[in-house]
Amino acid sequence: MNTPVKVAVTGAAGQIGYSLLFRIASGQLFGPQTPIQLRLLEITPALAALEGVVMELQDGAYPLLDSIEIGDQAERVFDGVNAALLVGARPRGPGMERRDLLEANGAIFSVQGKALNAVAADDVKIVVTGNPANTNALIALSNAPDIPAERFTALTRLDHNRAIAQLAAKLDAPVREISRMTIWGNHSASQYPDIFHARVGLENAAELVDDLTWLETDFIPTVANRGAAIIAARGSSSAASAASATIDHLHDWALGSAADDWVSMAVPSDGSYGVPQGLVSSFPCICRAGEYEIVQGLEINDFSRSRIEASVAELAEEQRAVRALGFLG
Ligand code: NAD
Ligand code: LMR
Repeated sequence: MNTPVKVAVTGAAGQIGYSLLFRIASGQLFGPQTPIQLRLLEITPALAALEGVVMELQDGAYPLLDSIEIGDQAERVFDGVNAALLVGARPRGPGMERRDLLEANGAIFSVQGKALNAVAADDVKIVVTGNPANTNALIALSNAPDIPAERFTALTRLDHNRAIAQLAAKLDAPVREISRMTIWGNHSASQYPDIFHARVGLENAAELVDDLTWLETDFIPTVANRGAAIIAARGSSSAASAASATIDHLHDWALGSAADDWVSMAVPSDGSYGVPQGLVSSFPCICRAGEYEIVQGLEINDFSRSRIEASVAELAEEQRAVRALGFLG
């Protein structure tokens, strides 16, 4: 057995938490050789419901689940954590955009950034799922000056998985044949799912699509608005698929992405592809030995360039908004 990993999950009594926790406990996050110590954060009124979730986790008799602690104080719950899954935040409802949550959720991420800075383990890896995810990650990292900025990431893996599923359906190909999908920019309606480097088997995906107007009429809007479509259909936002993508993101970051493939992660920009340094923007990333690297040297055509720039402009606008609200440390 490996050394146990301390994993914090915020918003643990929420919808995503209800799917996420059982998968973490069963070993799907860090593999079958790594015991887990769960640290679950909730707001005070949700602690009673969280106790019920803890009972269910106990009833799963998961061999890898060593301990569960719960609480409403971030500094206590985050003490010594090696991984932090920041899910807890208000979800949007029908008719809202994710940026409408900036003010309500920004405060949460400045407090949690400070708490992680004070007490997390030196090797902590952080993924923000709570919306607006990219800018919440920016807020958290700017309040955590002692943690390397690149340890703060945000979830665009759900968009990546959605894009793979849509392309597979269009080309009548199995999902497992699709690789090198890329999501650029913000986890919002401005995101750009890019198939120009994607492959189906060994073939270029864009060359297999008969009519590329499909990108503008169908593929991009379907992927970018999938969250809203799920809210309209379910009456609440995606939960099991979001939990699954959160597992995929951190699993691959910790244990490595597949050979000959890459994954999409929103990470602090180092200036790659002209994205201003510091914005938390989605890029194609390769993960090895617990680290990620932005894939370099991809040729970006004019169509892709204008889409990437539009989404990055929205991130810059969100950055200005949260700076004005006083959330950037
Ligand atoms: P939910 O309302 O079911 O659960 C959120 C939980 O967070 C609640 O139990 C709430 O009590 C808790 N919470 C609120 N403030 C908190 C705080 N300060 N500390 C700890 N916990 C706190 O919502 P959900 O469906 O689980 O979604 C959670 C977030 O994830 C939302 O912001 C949603 O928009 C987002 N989301 C993101 C993606 C993505 O791809 N990035 C996908 C789906 C949902
Ligand atoms: C999603 O993409 O499903 C989530 O970000 C929830 C939402 O608000 O769309």
